[in-house]
Amino acid sequence: MIDIEKVRADFPILKRQVNGKPLIYFDNAATSQTPQQVIEAIVEYYSKYNANIHRGVHALSQEATDLYEQARLKLQRHFNAEHSHEIIFTSGTTHGINLVANGFSGFLNEGDEVLVSAMEHHSNIVPWQMLCERTGASLKVIPMNLEGELEMNVFAEMLSERTKLVFFNHVSNALGTINPIKHIIESAHKVGAAVLVDGAQACPHIKPNVQELDVDFYVTSAHKMCGPTGVGLLYGKEKWLQKLPPYQGGGEMISEVTFEKTTYADLPHKFEAGTPNICGGIVFGAAVDYMNALGFANISNYEHELLVYATEALLKIEGLKIYGTAKEKTSVISFNIEGIHPYDIGTILDKMGIAVRTGHHCAQPIMDFYGIPGTVRASFAFYNTKVEIDTFVMALNKAKMMLI
Ligand code: ALA
Repeated sequence: MIDIEKVRADFPILKRQVNGKPLIYFDNAATSQTPQQVIEAIVEYYSKYNANIHRGVHALSQEATDLYEQARLKLQRHFNAEHSHEIIFTSGTTHGINLVANGFSGFLNEGDEVLVSAMEHHSNIVPWQMLCERTGASLKVIPMNLEGELEMNVFAEMLSERTKLVFFNHVSNALGTINPIKHIIESAHKVGAAVLVDGAQACPHIKPNVQELDVDFYVTSAHKMCGPTGVGLLYGKEKWLQKLPPYQGGGEMISEVTFEKTTYADLPHKFEAGTPNICGGIVFGAAVDYMNALGFANISNYEHELLVYATEALLKIEGLKIYGTAKEKTSVISFNIEGIHPYDIGTILDKMGIAVRTGHHCAQPIMDFYGIPGTVRASFAFYNTKVEIDTFVMALNKAKMMLI
């Protein structure tokens, strides 16, 4: 069970006012808020341990290195990776996807196919388009239906021995759909394709088990799950990470360098060139501890309650249409009110202290599919309340009166 008063007390930002009104933060799919425990982990790192890692014989460097590697172990356990060196620290989901897309340049040829779902964020479209341009492979799109669910029958027909890679999100950022990833992975593996899952929108709600999923690559960001921005991870199966070439050259990723030839470091360092976001990595571990202490079953049950409550309340507003009505959804509601531009609603809500995202949500193909310029997106976290949803619904009714 989520003890909502206790949980809210962990988040100092929830006490502030915006435009003279108590902040109601419903933009959690863009970035989550930070609990005091995570803020303290940042302060502790810079107060006690700040040093470069894997480089110094001095005590601070060794302590910082230990903390960083302990965070990697924590993340290995959280995602249930077989080896800690299968966890690569990145600057976020986009970095992880680009690392893999770049690595596949040498493995694809003309005639090969890569499949992407119709409900991707631009970060899981553009790197693959660039890969296809480099290699001559073609990009095929797994279609979705009006509810915002992938058309699995069409996907099954699209798979063939030409399919080399399949990538899709665990959860859609714009619609909240939870995709049937185990089934997709199993089907892709039957034709020998590798699978990358973008987990950025799933990890705040679900604890993925990468071994059980048998996924080849899984990427996510810390800032969606109560951690800091600028850090994330790529999980890759050892066999794939051994096979892929390094993404960036630099310090730390080498074994030996001469002007004639460089040999690369072992995993995970081969993919971690340069000084990483040391504090970010350590604090990512603290954020995962925080969420695990609440419990992912408790988090998702409570958020589901908020989703159902808000969906019912919003549907009572005349002219309001929800985009994304999949059976399996996280606590994300994308909607429009007939005759009103989403941007105008977002602006009025902001005046009332309510933060939502408006626009195409970095998922233009989804907006094109529905023939709309964008939506208003309210995304709830475990520290939001039904009272906040009531205020939000009242604010929407007010905005509607002002704009129509
Ligand atoms: N990908 C983030 C979102 O959906 C930024 O808002």
